[in-house]
Amino acid sequence: MSSATEGAEPLVSVEDVHTYYGKSHILHGVSLAVGVGEVVGLLGRNGVGKSTTLKTIMGLVQPRSGAVLFAGKRVTGLPPHKLARMGIGYVPEDRRIFRLLTVSENLRTGLDRHGVTEERRKILLDKVFTYFPVLAERRGQAGGTLSGGEQQMLAIARAMMLEPRVILLDEPTEGLMPRMVAQIRTIIDVLHSERISILLVEQNVPLTLEASQRVYILEKGCVRHHCAASAIDVNDPLIKQYLGV
Ligand SMILES: Nc1ncnc2c1ncn2[C@@H]1O[C@H](COP(=O)(O)OP(=O)(O)OP(=O)(O)O)[C@@H](O)[C@H]1O
Ligand SMILES: [Mg+2]
Repeated sequence: MSSATEGAEPLVSVEDVHTYYGKSHILHGVSLAVGVGEVVGLLGRNGVGKSTTLKTIMGLVQPRSGAVLFAGKRVTGLPPHKLARMGIGYVPEDRRIFRLLTVSENLRTGLDRHGVTEERRKILLDKVFTYFPVLAERRGQAGGTLSGGEQQMLAIARAMMLEPRVILLDEPTEGLMPRMVAQIRTIIDVLHSERISILLVEQNVPLTLEASQRVYILEKGCVRHHCAASAIDVNDPLIKQYLGV
């Protein structure tokens, strides 16, 4: 599929991917692309395969056929830690922060890699603390004592410590209070302004349409629709059916 990516070269491409869990055929030939610096929304009802798409890109599940490309290179089958090192950040649905480690320690786990000087570590930490003042305030507090929204911020901040070129965000606003939803929205815009690409899985349709340049809509493991976010008419009965709104 020639997915238009606003003139930018694709950073992540998913090409005709078929993914199974055991005998269950979940993704039926999914193709999509995320351009450099682009925010792309991935929408669809519960259980259509949104998280599975992100897991397939991240190497957490292997597609039975099809390919995942990153910066033009085939990366299908590479383990998640290699993909993370190459520049793919991932914030899963359940956030997976370390509840007993402090905020600073959680962030530093993102820095445990070769070739990062102490000076660079400090710059990266200072940068995320500037973006997330609340994390700076709570830097000595255990991750498990943070609110849901703060934990989500910590998960995104930790992904940023790896200096990713793209971040796969799985339902970052799920279960958050409106004030926190607005903050996550701001963070998405900050990442966008830094030319970090984002593949955003969300149930919050208005937020996704505002934050994204393009969107894909999945239904039963297939891409049913993809277009500019501004071209989605949420009152269109077919779109309503796809989105379950
Ligand atoms: N580990 C697994 N083993 C077997 N089936 C799974 C597994 N994970 C997900 N599934 C099934 O695969 C389908 C797609 O799941 P997936 O989590 O990708 O959907 P989703 O679009 O992210 O849904 P949600 O909006 O609920 O997060 C669902 O039918 C789900 O039950
Ligand atoms: Mg999901």
